[in-house]
Amino acid sequence: MSDIGVGLIGAGYIGHTIALAYRAVAATFPQAGRPRLVALADVNEATAAKAAERYGFARALGDWRALLADPAIDLVAIATPNHLHAEMAEAALAAGKHVHCEKPMAPSLAQAESMARRAGSAPGRTIVGYNYLHNPIVAAAREIIAGGEIGTPVHFRGTHNEDYMADPAVPFGWRCDRALAGAGALGDLGAHIVSMAHTLMGGIREVCGDLATMVTERPLPGGGMRRVENEDQAQFLVRFASGASGTIEASRVAQGQKMGLGFEITGSKGALVFDQTRLNELRLYRADQRRGRQGFTTILAGPEHPGYAAFCAGPGHQVGFNDLKVIEVARFLEAIAAGKSAYPDFAAALQFERVLDAVQRSAADRRWMDVATG
Ligand SMILES: NC(=O)c1ccc[n+]([C@@H]2O[C@H](COP(=O)([O-])OP(=O)(O)OC[C@H]3O[C@@H](n4cnc5c(N)ncnc54)[C@H](O)[C@@H]3O)[C@@H](O)[C@H]2O)c1
Repeated sequence: MSDIGVGLIGAGYIGHTIALAYRAVAATFPQAGRPRLVALADVNEATAAKAAERYGFARALGDWRALLADPAIDLVAIATPNHLHAEMAEAALAAGKHVHCEKPMAPSLAQAESMARRAGSAPGRTIVGYNYLHNPIVAAAREIIAGGEIGTPVHFRGTHNEDYMADPAVPFGWRCDRALAGAGALGDLGAHIVSMAHTLMGGIREVCGDLATMVTERPLPGGGMRRVENEDQAQFLVRFASGASGTIEASRVAQGQKMGLGFEITGSKGALVFDQTRLNELRLYRADQRRGRQGFTTILAGPEHPGYAAFCAGPGHQVGFNDLKVIEVARFLEAIAAGKSAYPDFAAALQFERVLDAVQRSAADRRWMDVATG
């Protein structure tokens, strides 16, 4: 395929991973094409200049609109705080670009719907940055479920717990500000495990949610305290369209949890267990083992699992967090080249946003909430 010009907006935490991914993809997935790193924009010009130099982008910009105006840019990756995604994505789509946007789509469902509408009528393709879905071993889990190896999935227990805000001394940042972030732990972490539940089990039909804020105010970097405007902890019951049930929890104050994304899927004939801190392993239980020999088998990721061999020919040698972003980028570039939708595009990711919105409404009303109709 022909070269594709890439512009990245935002050079913070995940901007780093995205920049590495666009650099690495030509070498790991040569069939996906060779991105040209045209420009990197950050509101902090010094950050933009340093990052452009470090990652090999030809130009550094302080203004993201200048990046959209550059005809050499075909694809815009958005790695800024949540409140900027809608404006940036819609402007990029209007300019005819493909858009790679970080999750969650936006602070409000209305904004996410607007993004999906705009994407529906624009020539550009879209993808939302749910990197954990691109893990080769997660693809194996999908295959195992689809092949009926654990029978009918009847229950999903999912978590995404971390402790990055467990210390009350962690300052107030954009993630605590409802206008900038939207939901708290639910939008930041819960979005990932909802995307996983949706991808492995199918759509979520109903939720019953509960939200809590443990650290109610935090120090401002310049001095003084500010009230935290969204939840530290979310837990909810789910009913899938398939009839399966489950529980999901997300926390940013879960002491000791550094990367507590995980799931347990119970089926009528077996079970699957995954823990992102051991992201190359999937534990499979089959109920048909003879008594006295029953137990979980640990499947190690290897070159048989699509995506893995791009990094290493040896099974069990392991891929890492940043590699999942490389796979995400490769899938996006392949979809663009094929003129097809990537997964999850804005339309697919909007379904996750609907779940997150329903959990918040459910918690506020203290009742079960139908995801589609309220
Ligand atoms: N997929 C993942 O695993 C993952 C992980 C972390 C964050 N995220 C998402 O990525 C997004 C960014 O999060 P982060 O942790 O990297 O945040 P961050 O605060 O570390 O970085 C954000 C960057 O955006 C820049 N920025 C702010 N306003 C801007 C503007 N108007 N124009 C250009 N640049 C601007 C900031 O200067 C900063 O460099 C969020 O939506 C977050 O939810 C996704």
